[in-house]
Amino acid sequence: MNIRTGSSERQIYVGGEYVPENEARISVFDHGLLYGDAVYDTACAWSGKVFKLDEHVDRLFESAHALKIDIPLDKEGVKEVVLEVMRRNKLDNAYIKIIVTRGVGRMPLMSPYHCKPNLIVFAIPYLSLIDNRVQQEGLRAGISSMRRIPSECLDAKIKCCNYLNHILMRMEANEAGLDEAIELDIGGYVAEAPGYNVFMAKHGVLYTPGENILVGVTRQTVMELAVAEGLQTVVGRFTAFDLYNADEVFLTSTAGGIFAVKEVDGRTIGRGKPGPITLMLNQKYMELLQSGAQSTPVHA
Ligand SMILES: Cc1ncc(COP(=O)(O)O)c(C=O)c1O
Repeated sequence: MNIRTGSSERQIYVGGEYVPENEARISVFDHGLLYGDAVYDTACAWSGKVFKLDEHVDRLFESAHALKIDIPLDKEGVKEVVLEVMRRNKLDNAYIKIIVTRGVGRMPLMSPYHCKPNLIVFAIPYLSLIDNRVQQEGLRAGISSMRRIPSECLDAKIKCCNYLNHILMRMEANEAGLDEAIELDIGGYVAEAPGYNVFMAKHGVLYTPGENILVGVTRQTVMELAVAEGLQTVVGRFTAFDLYNADEVFLTSTAGGIFAVKEVDGRTIGRGKPGPITLMLNQKYMELLQSGAQSTPVHA
C-alpha cells in the first residue's frame, strides 16, 4: 500500500526500516487492512518538540496489549523511531502517526494467531483539522442518529484502526451541512465526537463524560490546566439537554487542541461564539505546547 502525501523525499518507517514514501508498503494480507486489526496513536510536534510523547506511546502499548498485539520494539525503541522520523524529514511542526498492525498471518483468515506485527511511523507537516474560520468562530455540531459502539462491545479506551462508527457519524453530520457530530452512547448520554473528547462549561464549572470514550491526552491536559487555573472539572453523565444549555461547549484533540462549539442541533450555545473559559484554556494549552515543558525534543 502506498501512503502518498505528495512527497517522494519523505521517509517513513515501515517493516523495520526507513524508506522513501513511494517505497513504503504493507502486504494486502495484513490483518490491519483485512480486518481493521491494528492500533494507532497520533502525536504532534511544535517547534521541534513532541508533546506528551510518553503518554502517546504508553496509550499505544496499552491498546496493543488489550488486543494481544506484540509491538516489535519496546517503548524506548518506538520513541526513538518517532524522533528519527522527525529528524529524517527535517520537521519542526508535525502531525505524527504511529500504527501497529497485527500483520500477516499464515492464511488471510480472521485468526489473529501466528501474525507478525508491523510498526509504521510517519510524520507530515502539521495540518489543521478544521478550517481556520470555523476554528475562530466555533463549530456547528449535531447529535448523531447513530450511537457510539459501547465499551461492552469494543472498549472505547482501545485506540484501534477501526473507525467506521466515527466515520459514519461524521459523514452524517457533514452531509447535513454541519462541521461535526456529537456521539451519544447506547444509554443516550454524551460520549465524545469523531476524534475528539467533549467538554461543557456551566456557571464556571467544567464537565466532561467519563464512559464510552477514548481517554484523550488533550482531555487530560485540559483537566490539568483547569486545576492550575482553579477550575473544577466534574466527570459524569450528561444528556443532550445539558449540552444545549451549557454556557460553553468545546472539543479536544491532539491534532488541533481545543475547538469551540457554537451550536448543537440548531441550539445556540451560550453567546454563539467561543466563550471565556474555552479561550482561556486554549491560550494556556498553546502556551504549554510552545513552552516544551511536557515535550520531548527531537534533537537531543
Ligand atoms: C475517538 C477519539 N476520541 C478522542 C480523541 C482525542 O484524543 P487525544 O486528545 O489523545 O488526541 C481521539 C483522537 O484521535 C479519538 O480518536
